[in-house]
Amino acid sequence: MDNRPIGIFDSGVGGLTVFSELIKALPNEDMIYLGDTKQFPYGNKSKDTIIELTKKNTEFLINKGVKAVVIACGTATSQALDSVYELYDVPVIGIIEPTVLSLNKEKPKTIGIMATTGTIRSKTWQLEIKKLMPDAEIISQACPLLAQMAEEGWTENDVARLTIKEYVKAFKSKPVEKLILGCTHYPLFKKLIEEELGTNTEIIDTGKKVGSYLETYLKETKRETVKKTKPVYEFYLTDMESQFLKVANNILQEEIQIKKAKIRI
Ligand code: DGL
Repeated sequence: MDNRPIGIFDSGVGGLTVFSELIKALPNEDMIYLGDTKQFPYGNKSKDTIIELTKKNTEFLINKGVKAVVIACGTATSQALDSVYELYDVPVIGIIEPTVLSLNKEKPKTIGIMATTGTIRSKTWQLEIKKLMPDAEIISQACPLLAQMAEEGWTENDVARLTIKEYVKAFKSKPVEKLILGCTHYPLFKKLIEEELGTNTEIIDTGKKVGSYLETYLKETKRETVKKTKPVYEFYLTDMESQFLKVANNILQEEIQIKKAKIRI
């Protein structure tokens, strides 16, 4: 038993799509969420910068006393997880491994990936999929505009609809069995993506995969929280002047309080 909270971070609101799955899968766990809104967006930054930001965010959460850190960001997972996961004495979990392990149970023949430019450029998803499913055909699409639109709350308007139409063209000309939303902001566009692609393509939301992976992991390592009180959720941002609160209240369907995180880069 380990009653310490779980730490989660992303560049902004995207990680809340993971957070909302984690609180379903792990209803007893306290959580601390960090949105690095000061450095948003991560998707177009260099690998070195992403590693530096990932270290700072992970250390911020470790200093808050967490028992595990979830990198709820595809860009940071794909470019920095392998540089940080052995540095700390708490486990650091990204979104790629839980998703690929779960997909491997079904061994789809065609897999699509939508993610940020940095994630697609890193080829980490492609490499991790090929290790377990060497015959899978992978089609990837960078979607540089989507995270910005999600931060503004533009996930269901006409601009979002047209932008999604453009980005999913690749998966219309070559339909895929599974489409991984490799950036945690993208589940916010799930409805529009489904409308475009129909029901033959299963949309894979990484938050759900991370939730069940972490549930098993905490059980197996006997690190689950055992207590009867309501879980406590804390939210930190590195810059308060963002739309975060509005978008977060919409995603979580409840009013949250935000604190300022002081992280020096
Ligand atoms: N939510 C992030 C991801 O999963 C970051 C998007 C961004 O900051 O560009 O990649």
